[in-house]
Amino acid sequence: MKSLHFNRRRFLQASGAAAIWIPTSVRGYTTAEIESFFVDGEMQADVSKWELDTPALCVDLDLLEANLAKMQSTMGANGIASRPHAKTHKCPVIAQMQLDTGSVGICTAKISEAEVMFRNGIEEILMTTTNVTPTKINRAMALAAECPGFVQATDSMENARLLSEAAQASGLVADVVVDVDPGMGRTGTPPGQPALSLAQLVDQLPGLRFRGMLCYDGASQHVAGFAARKARTLEALAPAADTFELMRQSGLRTDIFSGGGTGTYNIDHETAGLTDVQVGSYVFMDSQYLEIGGEQDEAVYSDFEPSLTILATVLNDQYAGRATSDAGAKACTINRPWPIVKGESDISYTSGSDEFGTIRYGENASRTYRVGDKLELIVSHCDPVVNLYDHIYAIRNDRVEAIWRVAGRGMSA
Ligand SMILES: Cc1ncc(COP(=O)(O)O)c(C=O)c1O
Repeated sequence: MKSLHFNRRRFLQASGAAAIWIPTSVRGYTTAEIESFFVDGEMQADVSKWELDTPALCVDLDLLEANLAKMQSTMGANGIASRPHAKTHKCPVIAQMQLDTGSVGICTAKISEAEVMFRNGIEEILMTTTNVTPTKINRAMALAAECPGFVQATDSMENARLLSEAAQASGLVADVVVDVDPGMGRTGTPPGQPALSLAQLVDQLPGLRFRGMLCYDGASQHVAGFAARKARTLEALAPAADTFELMRQSGLRTDIFSGGGTGTYNIDHETAGLTDVQVGSYVFMDSQYLEIGGEQDEAVYSDFEPSLTILATVLNDQYAGRATSDAGAKACTINRPWPIVKGESDISYTSGSDEFGTIRYGENASRTYRVGDKLELIVSHCDPVVNLYDHIYAIRNDRVEAIWRVAGRGMSA
């Protein structure tokens, strides 16, 4: 019933030429209004993304789908799997798309994130962060009781014993992996004998089933230049690979050796034994990842498309060389490099002020803005940006096709 037509067409139809969009003084539909246009999950109205109230977080569906397909074709060619990290999108709809296109499960960073994913139908969940308090350990084991595909990471003998006690109290056998440190000293236990001893303890403790290990080398992900990134991550993961082999030789289960990320997704299969990559940002990309360079393209990491953008509106155009928008730190974060104004050149954007973004024109700026004009920003760092929004508008051919709840927003505990 695509019959409703809202007052949304502000195109100038140049004779014979393509429609030209004039984004000034558009309607500015709120989330509630957009939601009211859906009947049985189907969008009944033809609404351009430029008509959304701003700041608005949008994902381009064609680009998102291309990113999912690229990841899966690479995994297929390299003989490993993807287990994407849901900390990036916090959105069960995207997690389901990842599973539907071949990922073996998802990862979560927080127990609340894992719970929300499970409540929204996601049943293969690897929790990559250890839970150390009794409250969180009990929540993790309660989730394990309901969700047979839940796997919990641990990194110390004391923590493994607490998991074992909680699992026994709940009358279940919980799947556990050992988190191995790639040399960052942030989380995990050192590779070699410490990790092997912990794995053997997990294997012996009642109520636990040892499934393997994870080793996430975050420090390699944003190393600029493919060759440098490859050398660094293979070196960092070599002790973990040796540890995984030790586990195998000592007769332990070695179903899972999870690691890697968006920066190393096409390198990680060279680490012996690695079963799957915990890629997160590849679905959306961001200005941080764009600048690291790829194997084919040294200047820009163009393996994946920047699908996630923030729409903003210009609030002030009275001052020379600049304009002010409504998307500041609360809409974009203050991560660097700053957001990129999509489709324009020699225009910079900063989001240092809480409520305002600053647009600055270079000498060869491709355009200037008037009050009410819209602009689209490629986000600085996707994970924390997503956590600022309750919804993501799913856009195809510039039209709103769906609206997805960021169900894991604020699930940081
Ligand atoms: C444990 C873990 N695995 C995977 C990822 C995903 O990394 P990326 O977004 O670089 O793909 C992260 C991100 O910080 C992480 O902390």
